Amino acid sequence: MEQYVIKGGNPLVGDVEIAGAKNAALPVFAAAAMTDETVYIDNIPDVRDMDVMLEAMASTGVTVKRVNRHKVLINAGNIHNLTVEHEGCKKIRGSYYLLGAFLGKYKQAEVVLPGGCDIGSRAVDQHIKGFRALGAEVIIEHGLIKARAERLRGSHIYMDKVSVGATINVMMAATMAEGLTIIENCAKEPHVVDVANFLNSCGANIKGAGTDVIRIRGVERLHGTEYAIIPDQIEAGTFMFAAAVTKGDVTVKNVIPKHLESVTAKLLEIGCEVEEADDCIRVVAAKPLAHTQVRTLPYPGFPTDMQPQMTVALALAKGTSIVTESVFENRFKYVDELVRMGGDVKVEGGDTAIIDGVEKYTGASITVPDLRGGAALVIAALAAEGCSIVDNIKYIQRGYEDFHIKLQNLGAQIEMVETDKDVQKFRLKVG
Ligand code: EPZ
Repeated sequence: MEQYVIKGGNPLVGDVEIAGAKNAALPVFAAAAMTDETVYIDNIPDVRDMDVMLEAMASTGVTVKRVNRHKVLINAGNIHNLTVEHEGCKKIRGSYYLLGAFLGKYKQAEVVLPGGCDIGSRAVDQHIKGFRALGAEVIIEHGLIKARAERLRGSHIYMDKVSVGATINVMMAATMAEGLTIIENCAKEPHVVDVANFLNSCGANIKGAGTDVIRIRGVERLHGTEYAIIPDQIEAGTFMFAAAVTKGDVTVKNVIPKHLESVTAKLLEIGCEVEEADDCIRVVAAKPLAHTQVRTLPYPGFPTDMQPQMTVALALAKGTSIVTESVFENRFKYVDELVRMGGDVKVEGGDTAIIDGVEKYTGASITVPDLRGGAALVIAALAAEGCSIVDNIKYIQRGYEDFHIKLQNLGAQIEMVETDKDVQKFRLKVG
């Protein structure tokens, strides 16, 4: 079983190239199945969730060809199966985007209830509400969400909860519905905008993505395109916080600084220097970190996907900090592991972490509970005194391309190992 071994203590210094956004690529793949023509998608991250999604699509008859590590060709001209039961789909969230895509194009879809990180109940009621408003019958049966419609008709839909997944799924289905759909109280995340841009480049008529209200005028067909996915703001934010936690100096390259405004604001607040240029951001942590308060919110608020990385930084800041998680109800699982590394963090009421800053972390054997919690624990281990062994890294590999290699290039002592012998070798090497 693969593990990371880490000897902490080196400040991270240097440049890191940020990959394409996983959470944009997943729905863009699904949207690519809405045209019979060939689509090329570039700047895709080479992470495990991409493979699972593409395998699931291939199981329905979609042709998927890797042009290179970061570019894929998708042709959905010969779909023979609108039921997506691929085993891997139970593990990832993005598979449910095939519902909106197939329903929009074929007026029928059956997709296994999605999995993804265990960070809360992760309801799908808003997806279902949106599909029903467009005229579909939707039921959940034998572990599948089944949606079917004679015709899809444009509708006025108010989302009761701001949801990235529901906004994208309903937007996709409405793209090929008859007439005008207006979706209100939409998610405004950059990946919502990316999917809309992709669909528009295929001939869709979507306006307002990135605001609270999206207007979609249905079209009969979509055509092929070439498209590049936006940079991953969460990967970028993770490296920016890695600079803060390790007292380093890191420049994240190939980013859209606007997407990182809330992250940048918090780094400034805790005492880091942040310099922005057109497509890169430099974070220098020369001073001791200062305490603060943060609440996660939908975009443009501070992202829930950055909450663990923020907590790991604040647990080394002087004074008491408070982190409130308002998006998912179970996103502090990593805290038990952080406490094992010497962090003084208490979770109250399930949604609030009270953090008393400590001088340092100490290395420990830790287990990754989910993707972002895992990345945050690795950052803690990079700052810790002594060695850490990190188990269950498959979660991290789902969403971060070459994570340990990028960290090595910034001067981190981290290796991916498979056996106890490898661990011993690492310990001898790092002393
Ligand atoms: C997406 O999940 C991301 N996943 C998550 O990233 C991210 O944390 C989340 O958006 C918020 O930004 C993918 O894009 C694959 P939501 P999603 O629907 O779409 C509630 C990562 O680490 N809700 O915006 O599932 C829900 O329970 C992952 O990369 C309903 O109540 O998130 C949650 O409390 C983890 N009913 C809130 O809305 C619904 O029908 C936000 O969820 C849908 C959602």
